[in-house]
Amino acid sequence: KKIIFSGAQPSGKLTLGNYLGAIKNWTELQEEYNCYYSVVDLHAITVPQEAKNLRANTMQLLAQYLASGLDPEKNTIFIQSHVSAHTELMWILNTMTYMGELSRMTQFKDKSQKNEANLNAGLFTYPVLMAADILLYQTDLVPVGEDQKQHLELARDLANRFNNRYSPTFKVPEPYIPKAGARVMSLQEPTKKMSKSDENENGYILLVDEPDSIRRKIKRSVTDSIGIVQYNDEQPGIKNLLDIYSKLSNKSIEELVTMYEGKGYGDFKNDVSEVIVETLRPLREQYEYLLSNKDYLEDVYAKGAQKAEYQARKTLRKVYKKVGLIEKK
Ligand code: AMP
Ligand code: TRP
Repeated sequence: KKIIFSGAQPSGKLTLGNYLGAIKNWTELQEEYNCYYSVVDLHAITVPQEAKNLRANTMQLLAQYLASGLDPEKNTIFIQSHVSAHTELMWILNTMTYMGELSRMTQFKDKSQKNEANLNAGLFTYPVLMAADILLYQTDLVPVGEDQKQHLELARDLANRFNNRYSPTFKVPEPYIPKAGARVMSLQEPTKKMSKSDENENGYILLVDEPDSIRRKIKRSVTDSIGIVQYNDEQPGIKNLLDIYSKLSNKSIEELVTMYEGKGYGDFKNDVSEVIVETLRPLREQYEYLLSNKDYLEDVYAKGAQKAEYQARKTLRKVYKKVGLIEKK
């Protein structure tokens, strides 16, 4: 079986965009691949975090992974900081990464402009930690969004560099961009992508939003004055709602357009709300149940760490040996 690695940072709740663009695909991959899904808490602390919030966000993200259908029996689901090999391999890779390479990372350039007061070295070497995450597990495929492709390229370069300098040690990972390029747009500005960092909370739907809040957000979503439910770029709001509706109901866009012929946006929006509410209802219920079952969550992440640890140590031992570090007796 091919190996998949991916992770998300525990920095707030997941949106419908994260679900349709990432997590839902992960749940499909779990049937075919050997998957590692991590809550990357060490990545999250490259920007200031309140300890209490970070702890809560980490548990919440884990609960959202499981509530979305990631099965802890089929996958290795773990918290990054529990497997110390990640930071250990990072050190080795740090010694083989050029300052120039890291300076060219567009995410670093963006984040460093927004965070001038906290320009820490961790923000700079963040992509090296990500490379360690991936390379420790001999990963074949990494499902990530467009924005992470440059980081993945660094992971590939580092794998090749190490393999050439010593001898073949790491699998060189490939990006895995899901077929249907799901891009869920903001409900308030439908030409921008839906993002949880939007100041206007009416712009996004959270996986764990209450039904009434979902209905309110869809009702207020920005459309147009054309008044016909059809799929085109002049009606980005309606287009986005059609995309969401279609993905959640498995009805084609054409079918939906026909269904709403001669009907107004009111009916259409009501139905979109109900599809979202009904899709997310079991997720939210499961999420709440899991959060009140700390023992179960602990059990999941303890087992996950154990499984991950075994594979990670195996790779790290080889690396240490090749580099010339003396084996611990
Ligand atoms: P982020 O929340 O930006 O760290 O993204 C986490 C994952 O969700 C990445 O794989 C993104 O590509 C995906 N994602 C985030 N927002 C959207 C969106 N609006 N539509 C589709 N996928 C998204
Ligand atoms: N940097 C990724 C993001 O912000 C999260 C991440 C960390 C990751 N390590 C990873 C993604 C390894 C894929 C593989 O979205």
